[in-house]
Amino acid sequence: MSHRKTKILSLFSLLIVVAMVLGACAPAAATPAAPAAGKLAVGIVLPTKDEPRWIQDETRFKDALKAAGYDVEILFSQGSSAIEKQNVESLLTKGIKVLIICPQDGTAAAAAADEANKAGAKVISYDRLIRETASVDYYVTFDSVAVGAQQAQYLVDHAKGQGNPLYLYAGAASDNNAFVFFQGAWGVLQPKIADGTFVIKNSSEAVGLQAKATLTRDEEAKIIGQVTTNWDFNTAKNLAEANLTAAKAADKGNVFILAPNDGTARAIADAFGADKDVKSYLVTGQDAEKASVQYIIDGKQSMTVFKDVRTLVKDAIAAAVALLKDTAPAAKGSYNNGKADVPAIQSAVVTVDKANVKAGLIDSGYYKATDFTGLP
Ligand code: BGC
Repeated sequence: MSHRKTKILSLFSLLIVVAMVLGACAPAAATPAAPAAGKLAVGIVLPTKDEPRWIQDETRFKDALKAAGYDVEILFSQGSSAIEKQNVESLLTKGIKVLIICPQDGTAAAAAADEANKAGAKVISYDRLIRETASVDYYVTFDSVAVGAQQAQYLVDHAKGQGNPLYLYAGAASDNNAFVFFQGAWGVLQPKIADGTFVIKNSSEAVGLQAKATLTRDEEAKIIGQVTTNWDFNTAKNLAEANLTAAKAADKGNVFILAPNDGTARAIADAFGADKDVKSYLVTGQDAEKASVQYIIDGKQSMTVFKDVRTLVKDAIAAAVALLKDTAPAAKGSYNNGKADVPAIQSAVVTVDKANVKAGLIDSGYYKATDFTGLP
């Protein structure tokens, strides 16, 4: 055998040995296989498919990720913290390095965040803040105080004189945002309740606290406990109907309604619209859901707060990319979640009513004109 042939053979056997060693090691590896190079090792968990708001987020995530060629999985928790935890566990088993999660219940989700943290994955709280854990690395959100403040400002701007009947509704007490929205609204409404412009008709807790310019979380919880919609269409409808049954004709007339989001706004609007003693109503919302945009065009909902989900998605993906590179995502301030100050970025929100619905939602390219009828 020539010298050259021996060299080639020994190189060949070395390769075989290396291959054998690698082969033997692979099945024994304790951690799941690393995701393919160049792909985003990210899992996304959203609260429910039953509300158009979260379908908007899913669609916008898919659009953004497809355009960027990233590989992710999006799972829905269907209103259950138990399913949410299973979703997180399944994504961790698949080897995700970053979890983007909008919690169903802000406090219950702490356990899932802790599990992700233990598995070495970074946690981005998406839109809703996960509370009472140090395992949240980052928070992407809208300016939720401004959401409530803009809803309240709309009511204030359209109220004349004194003694206008005011009906208050709130989101789910398990969602930190419900508190933040209410806080924003209360800051604007309270002085107008104190000066007699508005009279609260459906919450004895709110009446009891109406002299206070700012409320503690416990005080907010008392009011929210009385006027919660639980972010649910039927709960909102039943509560509005019960409030209307309990109210005298004199407590109706031209009414002002703080409704926390579009889904509940439509339910509450339907209930008030059907009451013979309600002459007119103004009702707020948020999310610019298509059905509510149509309600606004039709004069059945007064306004919505447009939260451009494309921005939230873009911020979340930028944060995920930074965390994958082991760098800190760009933060502008922080939110305290009861255990830690979570670095955060928040984006602005816009009031939309009939007057600017076309400019704000159609001309901006957010929705197609053909999605609606009777656009102004
Ligand atoms: C979100 C809203 C949404 C609500 C109900 C909140 O946390 O910020 O956009 O309407 O949850 O799902």
